[in-house]
Amino acid sequence: MIRAAELIQRKRDGEQLDPGELRELVLGYVRGEVPDYQIAAFCMAVYFRGLSPAETFALTEAMIASGERIDLHAAIGRPVVDKHSTGGVGDKTSLAVGPIVAACGVPFGKMSGRGLGHTGGTLDKLESIPGFRVELSPDEFVAQVRDVGLAIIGQTANLVPADKLLYGLRDVTATVDNVSLIASSIMSKKIAAGADAIVLDVKVGDGAFMKTLDDARALAEVMLELGERAGRRVVCVLTDMDQPLGSAVGNALEIRETIATLRGEGPDDFNELVADAAAHLLTLSDLGVDEREARARARTAIRDGSALQMYERWIAAQGGNPAEDALPTAGVVRHVTAPQDGFVQSLGAIAIGTAALRLGAGRQTKDDVIDHAVGVRCLKKRGDAVASGEAIAEVHARDDRSADEAVDRVLAAYTFDTEAPPRRPIVLETLG
Ligand code: URA
Repeated sequence: MIRAAELIQRKRDGEQLDPGELRELVLGYVRGEVPDYQIAAFCMAVYFRGLSPAETFALTEAMIASGERIDLHAAIGRPVVDKHSTGGVGDKTSLAVGPIVAACGVPFGKMSGRGLGHTGGTLDKLESIPGFRVELSPDEFVAQVRDVGLAIIGQTANLVPADKLLYGLRDVTATVDNVSLIASSIMSKKIAAGADAIVLDVKVGDGAFMKTLDDARALAEVMLELGERAGRRVVCVLTDMDQPLGSAVGNALEIRETIATLRGEGPDDFNELVADAAAHLLTLSDLGVDEREARARARTAIRDGSALQMYERWIAAQGGNPAEDALPTAGVVRHVTAPQDGFVQSLGAIAIGTAALRLGAGRQTKDDVIDHAVGVRCLKKRGDAVASGEAIAEVHARDDRSADEAVDRVLAAYTFDTEAPPRRPIVLETLG
């Protein structure tokens, strides 16, 4: 008999739980013996009381133990790399980085998640591609990393099932933004999926779960420690999430922007982050290159078309149609226009993420069905000059009513001034 109520109460009262107790709770949840409402209460107790480093480690281990582990290194015979983000708005980085790295000859194998709160999820984005399968079996995953060089999958019934359940529950119970819960969620997936070297993109700012650099550093340090304990090489990049990344926010729109980026036509901030993450992964791999050479190789993969070819091969290997015109499009497209001349001073990431969510690009309850076609394209970003009446964003909506609401929300996300704000780089800090 699992003592779930007692464990929740002890955590609520600030006590430390031992590894066996955390394991009992997590494994009981996965077996269906502990109901959602008790785990939701437990997550809320963790949110307010936190977990010690030992508890965070134990929670991560328990989550890994809820399913199978893949030893990718042994299966592939050489190091495999992976990249993950703590979640942001317009963050399609893995979708571009994976093909670039694989095109440079480094195997990339990743287990990803769905949207959380106002942030989009890589799996939801991939599912906007007709036919794409995110649920590969562990054997299919390994075979694809070996044969194609690239696979991105969801938590299957066998791989970290605890995270699959917890992720969905945290999303709708306001328990996402806790360092230990995020760190254990991300690192359990990374460790179970078996990559040797991992780049973690820790988002900072308005649209991120970590609002300040200090909080982001704290999360990065916990994840570096979890990676080290598991014998993985980890680099954390702390990146700006005060405004959406790139232009597109919304599933199919982000896939289009990924394709454009792999053609060398991506937005500046996104190009910069993709190049940085790809360079770290190539440097951590067995290619034996330094960062300068890694950057040059990543650039070449875009220039010579091999990254785009790799994207197409990968999507087709997972059953998807890689053609851009196969992606769904929204019935209503509206422009949002600048109310004055001047410069964009700020563009709230959370407000844009919420506008996309309300259009149907994300979930407001666990069982909501996503509309893959809808979202927002931010044509003007922080520091861009605008003229009164000029289009600053596009709203892609299912109907006129939701388009009207989104236009108001998107306009309210922008502030303007007569002077340009100081330039801020996308990569703020690198740790590890
Ligand atoms: N990404 C994850 O995989 N898990 C979290 O908890 C947050 C972001």
